[in-house]
Amino acid sequence: MVKFFKKNKRLEVLTKSPTQTKKLGKILAGEFLKTSRKKALVLGLIGDLGGGKTTFLQGFARGLGIKEKILSPSFVIMKKFRVPVANIPCQISNFYHFDCYRIEKPKEILNLGFKEIISDPRNIVTIEWADHITKILPKDTKILKFKFVDRKTRKITIENKELD
Ligand SMILES: Nc1ncnc2c1ncn2[C@@H]1O[C@H](COP(=O)(O)OP(=O)(O)OP(=O)(O)O)[C@@H](O)[C@H]1O
Ligand SMILES: [Mg+2]
Repeated sequence: MVKFFKKNKRLEVLTKSPTQTKKLGKILAGEFLKTSRKKALVLGLIGDLGGGKTTFLQGFARGLGIKEKILSPSFVIMKKFRVPVANIPCQISNFYHFDCYRIEKPKEILNLGFKEIISDPRNIVTIEWADHITKILPKDTKILKFKFVDRKTRKITIENKELD
C-alpha cells in the first residue's frame, strides 16, 4: 500500500462486499494519516450510481476514528466532521464529505468556502461526484473510480497522479 503513494501509481482492487469496500477505505485512511502535506488532502470519488463511494467513505471515516455515521447526503452538499484527537498521528483535525451529484456549477461549491477548505493542511476533503466540479479540483487530487461489476462486486481504481 505504501508503494502506491509514489506519484503516477495506480491501484486496482475488486471488492466482493460492502464490508470489503469499507475495509479498503479504512486501510487507506490509515496510510494517508502517515503522510504529511502543505495543503488539504483531496480525494475525488467518481463512477457509477451505487458504485460504493459512500460505503468506502464510511470505512475511511472509521479509519480516521470518526464515530458518527457517514450517510449519503442526498440533499446536503457538504458535511464536516471533527477527527478525534486521540486518533491523529499527524496534524489532521477535520474530515469533509462533499456530494456534488446535484451540483451543476462549480460556483455552488466555491460559495461554501471550498478554496479555504482545500488550502488547510489540517483537512481531509472527500468529494463524491468530483467530476461535476473538475475545473476547481486541485491538481494533486487523488482520483478514486468506482465501477459496478455485479450485485456484490465493485472495481475500485485509485490514481495517484496530477490532474491535467
Ligand atoms: N462490493 C461492494 N462495495 C460497496 N457496496 C456494495 C458492494 N456490494 C454491494 N454493495 C451495495 O451497493 C450499494 C453502494 O451504495 P453507495 O451509496 O455506497 O454507492 P454510491 O457510489 O455512494 O452511490 P451514489 O452515486 O448514489 O452516491 C450499497 O447498497 C451496498 O450495500
Ligand atoms: Mg454516495
